[in-house]
Amino acid sequence: MYDIKKWENNLIEDIGRKRFEHSKRVMDAAIKLNNDLDEDFVRTAAILHDCAKYNEKKYLKLYGDNINKSDLEFKNVIHSFLGAEVAKKVYNINNEYILDAIRFHTTGRASMTKLDKIIYLADAIESKRNYPGVDQIRKLAENDMDKAILYSLSRNITYLVEKSILIHPLTIEAYNYLIREHNE
Ligand SMILES: [Fe+2]
Ligand SMILES: [Fe+2]
Repeated sequence: MYDIKKWENNLIEDIGRKRFEHSKRVMDAAIKLNNDLDEDFVRTAAILHDCAKYNEKKYLKLYGDNINKSDLEFKNVIHSFLGAEVAKKVYNINNEYILDAIRFHTTGRASMTKLDKIIYLADAIESKRNYPGVDQIRKLAENDMDKAILYSLSRNITYLVEKSILIHPLTIEAYNYLIREHNE
């Protein structure tokens, strides 16, 4: 399944060298967060997670039929949903867990799978990420991925509210889910 050499040229062409390097750092962070999942499975989701990042227009034309029309207004999220389609069609990924981890890496969702959590967090804390709160997320992630995700979601939601940017419903669902679990 995992074949970075085979995908490398295509990926670099698709997302550029810089984003490719980001994806490799996400892969490293994901491997560190992983305990018991197959490593190639984790690597595949990580390296491909942003595969639709810079060709949204082209890919929307090709695979946009599979995207909910109501999602199109969430500009910063759309590359994730589209990414799952591109991973399937261009990179021949059929594993639903991998496709879901790509699909939900920006929004999160209620009851995230272990792979969803790893990719979401690895994307947030890869070694070159540098924003207020990132060290706190890194620290929390060492012991409890759910706490780290909840903190990251909270920061994210606060940021979006402050900037008057739309919040995708899945992000609220992810947040509510973790709050309920936390309060149980
Ligand atoms: Fe992304
Ligand atoms: Fe990313």
